Amino acid sequence: LDNGLMRTPPMGWLAWERYRCDIDCDNDPKNCISETLFRDMADRLAEDGWRELGYTYVNIDDCWSSKKRDGKGRLQPDPKRFPGGIPELARYVHDRGLLLGIYGDLGTFTCMGYPGTTLDNIETDAQTFADWGIDMLKFDGCYSNATEQEKGYPLMSKALNATGRPIGYSCSWPAYQGGLPPKVNYTQLGEICNLWRNYGDIQDSWDSVLNIVDWFFNHQDILQTTAGPGRWNDPDMLVIGDFGLSLDQSRSQMALWAIMAAPLFMSNDLRTLNSEARTILQNKAVIAINQDKMGVQGRRLLKEKSEIEVFWRPLSNSDSALVFFSRRSDMPYRYTTSLGKLNYKAGSYKVYDVFSEKLMPGLSDTTDFTVSINPSGVVMWYISPLVPLSFRQNYRVSSL
Ligand code: GLA
Repeated sequence: LDNGLMRTPPMGWLAWERYRCDIDCDNDPKNCISETLFRDMADRLAEDGWRELGYTYVNIDDCWSSKKRDGKGRLQPDPKRFPGGIPELARYVHDRGLLLGIYGDLGTFTCMGYPGTTLDNIETDAQTFADWGIDMLKFDGCYSNATEQEKGYPLMSKALNATGRPIGYSCSWPAYQGGLPPKVNYTQLGEICNLWRNYGDIQDSWDSVLNIVDWFFNHQDILQTTAGPGRWNDPDMLVIGDFGLSLDQSRSQMALWAIMAAPLFMSNDLRTLNSEARTILQNKAVIAINQDKMGVQGRRLLKEKSEIEVFWRPLSNSDSALVFFSRRSDMPYRYTTSLGKLNYKAGSYKVYDVFSEKLMPGLSDTTDFTVSINPSGVVMWYISPLVPLSFRQNYRVSSL
């Protein structure tokens, strides 16, 4: 969507995967869906170095609202859990240099049974969100059919635009229509949405991450070209720092989400995050790869019989990223190849290992190298071409 927003994939924090529909504030006050939770996360994003790295959205998901609309037919937050109201929460978030996202659902109910946005409510709800100072809307699609979705998703795009407030627009539409053409029209999605959920919900498990990775890369020929500045495929939240992923699996999720040019919404507890998870999520090189200005989504290049897979993403200034991923479950695998075998042009390259943070100053396209990849882990490289030898020789001659 060409609204000037999200020219690189949006980054931030989203409540759903970790906090779900926990509305029991009496017994679980720190984790229930309430203004306290979002204020706590805003504090952490602002004070623990996240905001400076680009993690700027604080996003509310389902179960924030009251069970009924107000007297004027507007959505309203649960009064017990959001006593200050959404505008006050938005101010709190904005005062910390952050942005506030909210959740709505095209249909009679949200997925958890709260009031939905039927076609006749779209303009009212868009205006309510704008009046509140909302910066992003995730528009889910439970309890609506394909015909209603065909009308509703473009209508909400128009209605948000008509408010005059810049509001990032995340559409769950394709996820409800199988994620593939001809049922899904990715040209249209790119015109009306900034990002879209293509596929099922992530869960806190490696199985779930792998399932999502497989779906996205099995359909890369369809998905890759649909992404670009202002319009992104969304494989769903990062579950790094939760309970289901090992250290290597956490690096793998981060690396593959960067290759996919995916939105980076963490769904974890930033108040208690361990230092390993923090180090991965705050790794500057992997964030730079994810946030590359050119905005070209990467691809899987190879699936080896050895269960090693190689992924590649082209970056600005002729740079690129490679990920060597192991699906093995025995021991670190020593994988040998060369840049030439991975379609790199003749020349010499500077290689930075993203997770070990080591620089290899010169690697020729013809030189075989070996990387050691842990089970369900990755090795990720940031690669820049060195000035070609021939050019350097010319330069030296002419400068004499
Ligand atoms: C759907 C969405 C999830 C989450 C829940 C909330 O399942 O795909 O991301 O928003 O609804 O109920």
